[in-house]
Amino acid sequence: MRRLLSLIFWGCLALLGPIVRVTGESLPIPPILESVRMNDGTRFFELTADEGSREFSPGSSTKTLGYNGDYLGPTIRVRRGEKVAVQVNNRLDDITSVHWHGADVPAESDGGPHQGIPPRDSWLASFVVRQPAATLWYHPHIVGTTGRQVYEGLAGLFIIDDDESDSLDLPGEYGVDDIPVILQDRRFDADGEFTYRPSMPDVMHGYFGNAILVNGVLDPSKEVPRGPVRLRLLNGSNSTLLRLTLDGLPEMAQIASDGGFLERPVELSHIILSPGERAEVIVDFSQAGNSPVVLKAETNRGQLYDALEFRPVGNTATAWKAPDTLVAPENIPESEADRTRRFVLQSGMGGRMTINGKTMNMRRVNERVPLGSTEIWEIENRDGMMSQPHSFHVHAVQFRILDINGRPPPEYDSGPKDTVLLWPGDKIRIIARFDSFPGLFMYHCHLLEHEDNGMMGQFLIEAP
Ligand code: C2O
Ligand code: CU
Ligand code: CU
Repeated sequence: MRRLLSLIFWGCLALLGPIVRVTGESLPIPPILESVRMNDGTRFFELTADEGSREFSPGSSTKTLGYNGDYLGPTIRVRRGEKVAVQVNNRLDDITSVHWHGADVPAESDGGPHQGIPPRDSWLASFVVRQPAATLWYHPHIVGTTGRQVYEGLAGLFIIDDDESDSLDLPGEYGVDDIPVILQDRRFDADGEFTYRPSMPDVMHGYFGNAILVNGVLDPSKEVPRGPVRLRLLNGSNSTLLRLTLDGLPEMAQIASDGGFLERPVELSHIILSPGERAEVIVDFSQAGNSPVVLKAETNRGQLYDALEFRPVGNTATAWKAPDTLVAPENIPESEADRTRRFVLQSGMGGRMTINGKTMNMRRVNERVPLGSTEIWEIENRDGMMSQPHSFHVHAVQFRILDINGRPPPEYDSGPKDTVLLWPGDKIRIIARFDSFPGLFMYHCHLLEHEDNGMMGQFLIEAP
């Protein structure tokens, strides 16, 4: 209910109405990236960031950025235990980086602000995939330009498989009944360009759009089998929160959060994703009628989009029987925590976005975390007066939510997470084990205009 209040408030700020376009284009599926070679047991991939253009609406072309293409990037798909290397080539005029959001990788391969790739240069990330099956993603991460580069198209999915995910009886045919759904709200100007130029209010409240892209197109539709279909949902918007519902079916079953499977499927009538968050859901189209099922996306400014239309085809199947359990829960008991740290998120005068009163400084280590320790991080959104939501993301770990304003999290928020939404006034405690790699990592608000304007800090995981 605290959520509803916020929705109403932002509804009043909406100045841009949604652009209505009916194209009915078939939903593009980002291709799975083929590796370029195997070397000494390491699988090598290559990503090239470049400029391009795309006709989002017929007859009007938009300048874009993309990986190995004009907009967004291919899906990188790897297995737990695998040794992976990704060469990233920068053909932009600007410095960039590629961060593997949600991945447990060494600091020098994390792709954060310290791994910038100068124009015309390249960078090699290499790591062993050491975490469970999950839907992660990748995007640039340079201080001050992340917002623009993501906005113009630099982002892609990073899917991890493992034996456990293989053994579960879940739909898994990529692009057929296992469908990536990258949602991004975008503001097209009168010339059909993105023109990313955030004003001061845009910095404070986020760069809101007037259209919603799904896998890089407007108003797509997708034929789906009349049975269970898995959607891998990513809110890839810069700052817009999305509340997702299905028109034509009462509910969907969430099976995974940011970092992997939940203990069991959770039936939900709607899902709220803040920027950076993912959810995997099963939609049972055997229960759909004869008209299409529409994935509706409502923004925290009150805009309501028909984001994606599903057209079930084939014979009516029997209802999907959800598995009773997915994976064994991996809770971290509070009693194991070595300490608690506090993080206060606050917007200041003139768009000064802070954590604990400070803006991001590349030369400052904000927190020092001993390698191997278990910590509680208490995060507070002190922007009650500003009614400003934030989305707190931590690199290097998948955390568990201990409580939200003193109450245990709902079941769908009890799994592995790397990004968490904080409504104005919220206080959330998370717990994580910092046991992988020493080195410098980031924590920040994933509303990219906030991140670019200071709402980020650095923690150094230190070996004893
Ligand atoms: Cu998705 Cu530090 O970012
Ligand atoms: Cu990240
Ligand atoms: Cu924020």
